[in-house]
Amino acid sequence: MQRRLIKKNIYWLGAIDWDRRLFDSLVPLPDGTSYNAYLIEGSEKTALLDAVDPAMLDLLMKQLDGIAGIDYIISQHAEQDHSGTIPQLLARYPQAKVVTNAKAKALLMDHLHLAEEVFISVTDGEALSLGDKTLRFIHTPWVHWPETMVTYLEEDQILFSCDFFGAHIASSDLFVTDQGRVYEAAKRYFGEIMLPFRAIIAKNLEKLAYLPIQMIAPSHGQIYNQPSWIVAAYRDWALQVPHNLVVIPFVSMHGSTRMMVDQLTQNLTEQGVTVELFNLAVTDIGKLAMSLIDAGTIVVGTPTVLAGPHPLAAHAAFLANALRPKAQFLSVIGSYGWGGKAVETLAGMVGNLKVEVLEPVLCKGMPNKDTFAALGQLANTIAQKHKEQGFRAYP
Ligand code: FEO
Repeated sequence: MQRRLIKKNIYWLGAIDWDRRLFDSLVPLPDGTSYNAYLIEGSEKTALLDAVDPAMLDLLMKQLDGIAGIDYIISQHAEQDHSGTIPQLLARYPQAKVVTNAKAKALLMDHLHLAEEVFISVTDGEALSLGDKTLRFIHTPWVHWPETMVTYLEEDQILFSCDFFGAHIASSDLFVTDQGRVYEAAKRYFGEIMLPFRAIIAKNLEKLAYLPIQMIAPSHGQIYNQPSWIVAAYRDWALQVPHNLVVIPFVSMHGSTRMMVDQLTQNLTEQGVTVELFNLAVTDIGKLAMSLIDAGTIVVGTPTVLAGPHPLAAHAAFLANALRPKAQFLSVIGSYGWGGKAVETLAGMVGNLKVEVLEPVLCKGMPNKDTFAALGQLANTIAQKHKEQGFRAYP
């Protein structure tokens, strides 16, 4: 793919990674991804915004053929999928300066061993003139590292946002064409890496609210040429009040825990509570992360394995603890063979969650009528709590 014109003297460059199926050796990428860089040619200076993943260096280098000089390489985020090819860019354009903020500069020196003299540090709100185009840098921490910033091109009203508003999608379409598909990918991305920072993200959104924005150009996925809906979606995801939704990540070995999960789902549905199930033996953890954005209650379903929770349930608990979702209630249900401490172990793994723990429902062997009655009671309690807390309708 050659560089592509977005507006006069503004180009998309980068790499569409159709094949990648895992990020950070953890996050599933069902639709691939892209690493977007942008070239802005002012009347006096030329800037390149961000770079690409080192695996895609050759593509970026070919796209720069014919570009005689780059004055500034703007680094909005030090993570290597956007910064990892800066050393090679500096080798090709030795006169270029890396423009970034102080925190990012320190990280780039650590991660890429860049020399201090290649940097120009910019403060929050500072502007850089390219002649007839002005770049204004706005610090937006935790989207998704502490040093992240965005860049506003004033004359064209384009916000270059790096991970902020990004979506892991590989597409030959430069601009968003399928809003539903991008909404899902962007929500997945928010759930996977930004959920713990939602309070700061809400502040970042307010910080940008005064800007007239015609276009948002992220560093993953397509460009938003009608950006208001993705900003509204971020506002919704960042809200602290959850939805009337119970998320049940579960695993079952011989079917008993599955029977309990199904019964609880039935009872909750009858009470008007939406339920989303994730069978951890087969689930896509990105889908689970998306649901955790909205959940009011999390119920972990686990059998007991060697006196503790099933390792897949422990993995889900670890993930939820790291993502710190806004859920306010938590419970555990499951079947055990002869005994164990599955509940105590799981409870000890979710110290980051600010939740009220509801009475677990455990049974020895196959669930019986007492088990089902206890599950009915748990469903009643959850439905009542959701009403009392005024959780929002889902979706
Ligand atoms: Fe796309 Fe946080 O890097």
